[in-house]
Amino acid sequence: MRIRVPATSANLGPGFDSCGIAVAMYLYLDVLLDKKCDEWFIEHELTGEIPHDETNLIIQTALRLVPELEPRKLIMTTTIPTARGLGSSSTAIVAGIELANRLGQLNLSMEEKINIATEIEGHPDNVAPAICGDFVVASYDQEVDFVKYHFPSCDLIAFIPNDELLTSTSRGVLPNILEYKEAVKASSISNVMLAAIMTHNLELAGKMMQKDLWHEKYRAPLIPQLKEIRQMAEEVGLYGCVLSGAGPTILMFSPNEKTDLMVARLRKASISGTVEVLAIDREGL
Ligand code: HSE
Repeated sequence: MRIRVPATSANLGPGFDSCGIAVAMYLYLDVLLDKKCDEWFIEHELTGEIPHDETNLIIQTALRLVPELEPRKLIMTTTIPTARGLGSSSTAIVAGIELANRLGQLNLSMEEKINIATEIEGHPDNVAPAICGDFVVASYDQEVDFVKYHFPSCDLIAFIPNDELLTSTSRGVLPNILEYKEAVKASSISNVMLAAIMTHNLELAGKMMQKDLWHEKYRAPLIPQLKEIRQMAEEVGLYGCVLSGAGPTILMFSPNEKTDLMVARLRKASISGTVEVLAIDREGL
């Protein structure tokens, strides 16, 4: 049995903790069904402190839903880098929910999966698009209300810095209070961004993405590459350039004919990181 979960890029600038898009970069979880095991074990080649036993987030999540699940051997393969703002922990939570769903025959609906995943993650903007695919706008207040929307076609260019940035660090620099006037302005920017996406006006959507007032200005000092890359993106004529989730990855929305030039410029610049052109994942889990 194989479970596939896409990576996601949350926020898109002013859609902070609410909007996210699924991208074609995947975590695969293979479950060996024919082998009885005494203990849970998850094989993977990730470096760092990602456990192989039942303390692994995927298994923990599955056991939270169905504590009596029989132990299995799992194999995880993923190309999603950890702590880079591409929703790697959300993919683990979603994989764990789907593991419990299938092994425990829970028959969960998409809405139920999103609600459970959001309760674990704390915000819906990565888990919801990982489950639904494509672009999702969501609001979480005890339950999740959400809309999945077909994001207009464009290329996504991700600049993935070599260094990790923990979400906790990146959330730690955000203010506790935003002045009322500033919040009104921030919300109007977000509204126009969404209306622009939904009327397929990516030029305007990208412009609004870069005007975010919720989080980027507080986080920008943690991601020194953002200023230079945004400048480059403006010169090349991309739609927009934002922090992916809590960073440090930088996500660019590019008209197809500008992508090669932007990628070449990024690769030539002396900034350390990798550049990937990603498609939008339209299916989700
Ligand atoms: N909306 C979240 C944030 C996404 O920006 O902190 C990262 O998990």
